[in-house]
Amino acid sequence: MIGYGFMGRAHSNAYKRLNDFFPLQHKVVLKAACARNEEKVKAFAANWGYERTETDWRKLVRSPDVDLIDICTPNDSHMEIALAAAKAGKMIVCEKPLALDVKQGETMVKAVEKAKLPNMVWFNYRRVPSISLAKQLIAEGRIGRPYHFRANFLQDWTISPDVPQGGAGLWRLDVKAAGSGVTGDLLAHNIDCAMWLNGPIVRVTARTETFVKQRKHAVTGKMQPVGIDDACLFICEFANGSLGLFESTRYARGHKALKTFELNGEQGSLAFNLEEMEYLDFFEYNTGGGEATVDSHIRGWRRIHVTNGEHPYMNRYWVPGLVIGYEHSFLNALADFVQGVENGKPAQPDFRSALQTQKVCEAVIKSGKTGRWEKTGVDVKAVI
Ligand SMILES: NC(=O)c1ccc[n+]([C@@H]2O[C@H](COP(=O)([O-])OP(=O)(O)OC[C@H]3O[C@@H](n4cnc5c(N)ncnc54)[C@H](O)[C@@H]3O)[C@@H](O)[C@H]2O)c1
Repeated sequence: MIGYGFMGRAHSNAYKRLNDFFPLQHKVVLKAACARNEEKVKAFAANWGYERTETDWRKLVRSPDVDLIDICTPNDSHMEIALAAAKAGKMIVCEKPLALDVKQGETMVKAVEKAKLPNMVWFNYRRVPSISLAKQLIAEGRIGRPYHFRANFLQDWTISPDVPQGGAGLWRLDVKAAGSGVTGDLLAHNIDCAMWLNGPIVRVTARTETFVKQRKHAVTGKMQPVGIDDACLFICEFANGSLGLFESTRYARGHKALKTFELNGEQGSLAFNLEEMEYLDFFEYNTGGGEATVDSHIRGWRRIHVTNGEHPYMNRYWVPGLVIGYEHSFLNALADFVQGVENGKPAQPDFRSALQTQKVCEAVIKSGKTGRWEKTGVDVKAVI
């Protein structure tokens, strides 16, 4: 485990609980945790039950007793760590976004594919049972021809111009460490889900904004220009002919993590809201066959409480009616990854699949600068 921050904790929880909830041939052993501050990483390792600690990730990556490297560090270190881990023949699971840009992402894909190593990117929202159920309902043909996909990811934590940029806590505001702002940090999740549910995005046009132009850098103490996008709105075309509308910002006063999407098709619609993540909303116009088959006087949105044993992942947890939470999306993702290694059907998104999301992000940022429609160059076969 490299990094002991937010994701270091979320993933450690998943490793600890995996074998309690999922029947797998392999058992997780928490070998080592790594971060640069020895005292802090020791405390982290003691808390979560890692056998030992390292302060240099290069040493950890070469350790013969370690089979898998988990990259939970800021975005500017993903490529360097992944390339070293691939060279050392380790399985790799990497946090999103895959890299700082498409060029880095392509280098990473080449390295893991050449070394034939199991790999995955933690786009964990796919593993929220309600979103997995949405995928199932689409595959069952219940939505019919898709027309619209719209998604938001709204926060409000950077409104104050006194929030600095950079350093350990605020690397997300420093373009050198993050690569981009809300596009890579928040919209990447929405883009991954959108393409998983509704297929490749082929063209985009975007408007990005940086509301606070200068912030003090936490490391240098000097006022420096802000290079990230504070807000991003884009519209897009999917390969299936439907239209997409996306919005993300860290300036939506009152919203902490309002992640939502809605898909409207000829025969029905689906809607998800992370603040009520145990529900999937479904509007059914027709139950198969074309014309409306749900009588108009009882037609309406249905709220599915996604807690039954037949719902995705839910047979691993409690009895119907009882909910699971955010942390289980990581547990479910990890279970899929290990199962994929065991049965030879790799879990998605692997690095190649996550690279397609990186391509969309890059096209969005480019369009924000040029003001033009930009092609994404997404490899349609890799959108899985
Ligand atoms: N899947 C998700 O929903 C999700 C949510 C949050 C963050 N992320 C991603 O996870 C990654 C980490 O984000 P976070 O929120 O956990 O950040 P964080 O700031 O909470 O933690 C980052 C950790 O990396 C460590 N670190 C930084 N440079 C290092 C180095 N050179 N060697 C060793 N350790 C180093 C820091 O000490 C810290 O422990 C980012 O890529 C981010 O985009 C994903």
